[in-house]
Amino acid sequence: MKTDIVIDLSYGDCAKTKVTLDYLKRNKYDCVARVSGGSNCGHSTYHGGKKVVTHLIPCGIFKQTKSIIGPGCVVNVKKFFKEIDELTKLVTNCTDLIKISYNTHIVTEAHIEEEINESAVGTTRQGIGGAYRDKVARVGIRAESIPELKPFLIDFHEEIFSKPDYQILVEGAQGFGLDIDHCKVWKYCTSSSCTVAGALLNGIPHSSVREVVGVIKPYETYVGALDFEGNDPIFPKIREIAKEFGETTGRPRKINFLCIDDVLKAARINSINTLVVNKMDILQEIGVWKVRSAAGTITDLHTEENFKSFLAELFPNIEIIYSYSPKHI
Ligand code: IMP
Repeated sequence: MKTDIVIDLSYGDCAKTKVTLDYLKRNKYDCVARVSGGSNCGHSTYHGGKKVVTHLIPCGIFKQTKSIIGPGCVVNVKKFFKEIDELTKLVTNCTDLIKISYNTHIVTEAHIEEEINESAVGTTRQGIGGAYRDKVARVGIRAESIPELKPFLIDFHEEIFSKPDYQILVEGAQGFGLDIDHCKVWKYCTSSSCTVAGALLNGIPHSSVREVVGVIKPYETYVGALDFEGNDPIFPKIREIAKEFGETTGRPRKINFLCIDDVLKAARINSINTLVVNKMDILQEIGVWKVRSAAGTITDLHTEENFKSFLAELFPNIEIIYSYSPKHI
């Protein structure tokens, strides 16, 4: 068995889907699996010339690859079927490719209702916290108890052990800075594990992990109640040029310079082999190449070349891939 894991080293929204789709072109995978989170994330892609945003279903669906929602996720059944309705118009074989592990937990209407006026953390109000709370308290409902989900149910363990050379591509959700344990500021996080360990919790053997791909942007974005954005006038400019608004809630993402200490910590804990820096085109257009430390010291690297040398020195044994996406993706 071989597993490649694509995870966000920041606060989500670093265009993991783009990287996951690139890996799908490079290797042959038996499935793409989501391993944590639920409809709190918004994964955008272009399919048939149209922008498509998915929240629950892995992006393998766009490449005719089995797309599995793993046991570490939480599923809102109504939203799941709504997403399938939309995808059926775009993807042939759609319903045959989508699978949910029988032990995946369910987000109920009550979970969503309890979050309707939530503002302390600034959640996506998708009922994520309540669903994970009930899972841990052993009172949650699992996919196996929902009759409408029966046609989609699998046992993730049986699936990945169904043949000796099974190849899994994990499409991460959220990001390291939002991880329930490692979050930058306690309480301002999501309720799941956004690390490699979070993927392993789904039952993927650690010895199968071949590559861990960490994804960042050359600047940071965050959505939530935390005071995150500084006063630099380039932050609103970045937001405007890069269209940094949440896919799930439409909220403006707060911008800051890349925190080098945080990236280093995320890279270490996840033991990445490859670092992908997306959206380089945005800072190219703006022409500002600054980074910051956890203590708040800002270093002006002046040029893109210096920025790259700085990262190369920080990560001497890691392959760094710079991506200049077509703008605004
Ligand atoms: P929850 O996951 O909806 O409970 O939200 C908790 C925190 O995580 C909030 O700050 C959300 O804005 C943030 N969050 C959750 N999912 C995402 C995501 O996919 N991208 C960016 N932020 C997210």
